[in-house]
Amino acid sequence: MTVNWAGVPEVWRGRFLAALAFAFAICGSSAAAENGLPKSMRESGTPQWRSLLHYTPQRNWMNDLNGLVYYRGIYHLFYQYNPEGNVWGNMSWGHATSRNLIDWTEQPVALAANRSEEVFSGSVVVDSHNTSGLGTAAVPPLVALYTSVYKTGSGHEPGGQAQSLAYSTDEDKTWRRYAHNPVLTLNPESSHFRDPKVSWYARGGYWLMCAVVADVHVVKLYRSSNLIDWTFLSDFTLPDIPHHGALWEIPDLVSLPLDGNPAKEKWVMIVNVNPWSIAGGSGAMYFVGRFDGTRFVPDEVAPAGSDASRWQWLDHGADYYAAGTFSNVPDRKTVAIGWMGNWDYANDVPTSPWRGAMALPRELALETVAGRPQLVFVPTESYASLVGRSPTTRIAQVGLESSTQALPAVTRGVVQNIELTIEPGGAHRAGLVVRGSADGTTGTRIFYDSEAQTLTIDRSHAGETSFSPAYSPQHIVNLPLHDGRLHLRVVVDRASVEVFAEHGQAVITDLILPALEDDRISLFAESGGATFRDIAVSDLSLAH
Ligand code: FRU
Repeated sequence: MTVNWAGVPEVWRGRFLAALAFAFAICGSSAAAENGLPKSMRESGTPQWRSLLHYTPQRNWMNDLNGLVYYRGIYHLFYQYNPEGNVWGNMSWGHATSRNLIDWTEQPVALAANRSEEVFSGSVVVDSHNTSGLGTAAVPPLVALYTSVYKTGSGHEPGGQAQSLAYSTDEDKTWRRYAHNPVLTLNPESSHFRDPKVSWYARGGYWLMCAVVADVHVVKLYRSSNLIDWTFLSDFTLPDIPHHGALWEIPDLVSLPLDGNPAKEKWVMIVNVNPWSIAGGSGAMYFVGRFDGTRFVPDEVAPAGSDASRWQWLDHGADYYAAGTFSNVPDRKTVAIGWMGNWDYANDVPTSPWRGAMALPRELALETVAGRPQLVFVPTESYASLVGRSPTTRIAQVGLESSTQALPAVTRGVVQNIELTIEPGGAHRAGLVVRGSADGTTGTRIFYDSEAQTLTIDRSHAGETSFSPAYSPQHIVNLPLHDGRLHLRVVVDRASVEVFAEHGQAVITDLILPALEDDRISLFAESGGATFRDIAVSDLSLAH
C-alpha cells in the first residue's frame, strides 16, 4: 500500500497512521481483535458496549457531531463518518434523526466523500426565507456549510481546506452540493481552515459564520445575506496562547441571557482544543464575552502561563469534544452535544462493529457562580421525563463510617440515572462506585475529596483499560461545597458515565468499558463518616 503524503497535514497523517496500526493489530493478532471476549460476543462484536441512551452508528467510525438542526418536529444529527470502516478516514457526513434527543434512527449517509474531496465538519441551518435562492418560499432549503478537504486531481492543492455548501429541499433526505463550491477560501489556501458553524444573527439581520484556522488558534467570523457570499468580520484569538502546537477546532458562538434575564445578554464562544484539555487530550473550552455584530471580545482571559484549570470548560472528563449547539430549537433553548471521544485514543477504543458515540444532549444556561458568569448544564426535558417514567428505587439516608456499603440488589443495572446528595462530613473521601463487580475489585469510582475540594471520576478499574497508554485513569474538577453538601446526577450507560455535579455547575464525561455483569452500585466513606441522602436510582433500560 502506498500513500501520497503530499499536502496532507501532520495531524491527519497521525490519525491515518494510528488507524492503520490498529487495523494491522487486528489482522495480525487474534487476541487484539477478541479483546478477551467470549466467542458468542466476538461474533457479533461488542454489544455489551452499545449505548442505549447515546447515539452510536450501527457500523463503522464516527467522530464530531455536525449539522445539529431541529426541523419540523425532528432533531437531525449529522456526524463525521467513515462509511468504509471502523477507523478514521473517508470522511463523510452520516445522519441520524430523533424526536426526543434520546431515541435515534440512523439514516442513509447524507454527504459522502467523493473523488475530489472529503467532507469535514460543519453545520446546517433552516433557510426559512430562502435567502440562498436554493429552494422556494414554499419549500425552504436546509443549507449545510461544510469543509471540503481536497484530494489530488481536484484542481485544488491536495489537503487544502475550504468551506462548501450543500442543500436539501426534501426535508433532509437528499443533499446536493452547490454547483459553485467552495463558497469561502483563504488566500493563500490553508490546510487548516475548517469547521464552519453558521447561525442567524437576528439583531443584524444576517447569517453569521465562525470557522477556525486551527493551527494558528484563530476563529474567523464572517457575515452573509444569502449563505453563499461571505464577508470577513473579524478574528478572535488570545494574546498569549497557552497551548502552542495544539489545534483550535469546531468553534461556536451563542448568545444566552445571564441568570435568565433577557436584558443581560452575554455571548459565549466555544472553542474545542486538541490536545491541552483539562482532562488531557481533546476538550471543549469556552469564553464569556460581548459580541457587537462584528467582533467577539471575552470579558476576561486567564493570565499568561496559567494551566488548563484556570480556563472554562464545558466538561472536565476525558471524552467530550467537538461540542456544538443545535440551530432552530423551539423556545430559544440552547442544546449542545459533544462527541464522546478523545483524539488521544479514539482510534483504539475496542468497540465493534462501530467506534464512536455521542454524549448526552444538554441544555445550556449562563449563571453567575461565585461572582463570575459560567455555563451550567442540565440534561434535556425529554431525558428528565424518561427518568420520571422509569422504575425508581429510593433510599432516604445512608450513614457510613470509614466503610463501604452495597446498595440493594434492586438497584443493579447498566443503564441508569442515579441522583443523590453527599455530605462528606469528616470523611477524607466519600462517593459511590457504579458498574461495580460482585467482588468489588472492578468499578468506576466517583468521589468527593474534602481536603482537596475536588470531585473525581476514577476509571482505572472500570473494565477494559489496556487498549491505549493514553487512556487516562482519573478526571478531576475543583468544586467547593455549599453547606457541606454535594448534589450529583450520574448517568450510567453501557459504555459511559456522565456526572452532573451541583445541578450542572460541572460535568465530567468519561467512556468506560466494563463487563455487562458489572452492574452494582455501592457507597463508600474513607477515613471518617459521611452521609448520603435522597438516593434515587432509576432503571432507564426499559422505559423508552
Ligand atoms: C475535530 C476535527 C475537525 C475536522 C474533523 C475531521 O475532531 O478534527 O476539525 O473537521 O474532526 O474528521
